[in-house]
Amino acid sequence: MSSSFLKTSDFSTEYLSKLIDRAILDKASPSGSRPLSGKSVALVFFNPSLRTRASMQVGIFELGGNAVILEPGGTSWTLEHREGVVMDGDKTEHLKEFVRVLERYVSAIGVRTFAGLKDWELERTDPTLNAFARYASVPVINLESAMHHPCQSMADMMTIREKLGAGKKKVLMTWAWHPKPLPMAVPNSFALAAAQFGHDLRIAHPKGYELDDELLGEIESQAAANGGTVEFTNAVDEAFDGVEVVYAKSFGSKNFYGDAEGDIRERAAYHDKWIVDEEKMAWTSDAVFMHCLPVRRNVIVTDSVIDSPRSIVIDEAENRLHIQKAIMTELIK
Ligand code: CP
Repeated sequence: MSSSFLKTSDFSTEYLSKLIDRAILDKASPSGSRPLSGKSVALVFFNPSLRTRASMQVGIFELGGNAVILEPGGTSWTLEHREGVVMDGDKTEHLKEFVRVLERYVSAIGVRTFAGLKDWELERTDPTLNAFARYASVPVINLESAMHHPCQSMADMMTIREKLGAGKKKVLMTWAWHPKPLPMAVPNSFALAAAQFGHDLRIAHPKGYELDDELLGEIESQAAANGGTVEFTNAVDEAFDGVEVVYAKSFGSKNFYGDAEGDIRERAAYHDKWIVDEEKMAWTSDAVFMHCLPVRRNVIVTDSVIDSPRSIVIDEAENRLHIQKAIMTELIK
């Protein structure tokens, strides 16, 4: 069992399910316990955030702790994570010292470090996040890396259970058009967690927008082990048929990694077609609409869908707070 929270597949479905039970219980009737009393948690943000930053800061406060927010290159020094490099460029501090100093002050370190969308073979290994985990002796919590956003996917699984009840559901994870390529962490983590929780998962995207091969293998084996199924389609018109959950997320193509202009040209054919609208929602089994947010209205999803009673995006965002409190309570003992 990992002492850090880097991706959901480091943990059993039973363990993850208990975290969701705890979060749902504490959301309904807050225990008021303060397991982080007298403790601090560092939140290191290499990238912008609303939900993750605010929910972690509030969650740490509600658990009795203190959040130390650091922004490398902004409110703290620029950071080098590679081993053995001559640091004669623009990086002031090495992650080795950063982590080893920080953990003398704090009981856990949360890290947000997005994909740079430059080098697929490198970024798919999550080098910055894994350097944090390698150097730290305190738990590291992934607040979205190049490949995974486990706090988001746990909030997603919690929200599905809360809204539709326990047990497997027919879940669609659909690509959507967006003016530029975006990282793959959210779709990766959503699909992986949905497989771990045994849902019947349909993954829809245009040809050329496949997820990582190794991750897909893990998703398929997790689905098989947990009583779920995984199917794939490139037909947006058929993807919505009969599903109970529509989860939309745009992401870039591995084939155009490091070539944003090429990806933008490639995806132009899907503009206006790969959008979640009322017509597609009508093909579902009265599905709920989910998105991790932020979302571009009338690009990813129409106003009429996101503003409809079937949209649960705000509850989904709220659940980030509750599930992260459960995760921190378990990790920081
Ligand atoms: N969903 C999510 O992680 O939101 P932020 O990028 O605002 O933190």
